[in-house]
Amino acid sequence: MSTATLDLFEPPAPGERERLGPGAFVLRGFALPVVDALLPAIARIDAQAPFRHMATPGGFTMSVALTNCGTWGWSTDSQGYRYTRIDPDSGLPWPTMPEVFAQLARDAAAASGFNDFEPDACLVNRYRPGSRLSLHQDKDERDFSAPIVSVSLGMPAIFLFGGLRRADRAVRVPLRHGDIVVWGGEDRLRFHGVLPLEDDPHPLLGAQRINFTFRKAG
Ligand code: SIN
Ligand code: FE2
Repeated sequence: MSTATLDLFEPPAPGERERLGPGAFVLRGFALPVVDALLPAIARIDAQAPFRHMATPGGFTMSVALTNCGTWGWSTDSQGYRYTRIDPDSGLPWPTMPEVFAQLARDAAAASGFNDFEPDACLVNRYRPGSRLSLHQDKDERDFSAPIVSVSLGMPAIFLFGGLRRADRAVRVPLRHGDIVVWGGEDRLRFHGVLPLEDDPHPLLGAQRINFTFRKAG
C-alpha cells in the first residue's frame, strides 16, 4: 500500500501522545515551541562539524548525511561503528551540545516516564528526497537504561518501528515537523528505520529532513 494513503487521515494534533510500546511514545509537535532556537543551533553545529556521508562497514555510503554534538559523537567507516570524542574529519572535539537541545531531550524523556535523562551524545541526521535508513538497533551506547529521544524537523517521513528481532513486523509511523519519538526500557533495543523520503519540501527547511537523536553513550 502506498504511503499516500496516510494523507487521507487528519494528522494528529500537537500535544497528543501515542504509545508504540510499554516504553515507547510519539509526542506530537513536542518540539514546535523551540524550533526557532533549534534551527540556528543546527546551523552552528554544521558550520563547526559539517554534515557528511559516511561509509558503512559493509562498504556502502550512507544516503543520510550526519554530524554530532555533545561529548560523544557516533561515526562509521570501513572498520565499524563507534563513539568518539573527536570528529574524525576535523580532529577537533564535536561541537558542544546546545542547552536548548539538552533541555528538550530531558523534557521529552520526562514526558515519556524517563526522569533524569542526561544525554551526552546527539547524532544529527540530514535526509534529502530518496534518503533512507535501513532497520537497525541503537546498540553502540554503553548505557541501555537511558532512552533514545528522537526529534524530527522539516520534511515528513515514515518511521519504521519494529520489534526486538530484525524479522519482526514493523509499524509505520508518519513523523512530521516537530514530532518527537522516545523509546526506552523494554523497548530500548527495538529495530527501527526510515523509508525513502518523498520530495515534499517543507516551508522552513525546504527539501530536507533533520532528525536528531539523543543518547547516553559514554
Ligand atoms: C536514527 O535511527 O538514528 C534516526 C531515526 C530517524 O531519522 O527518525
Ligand atoms: Fe537509530
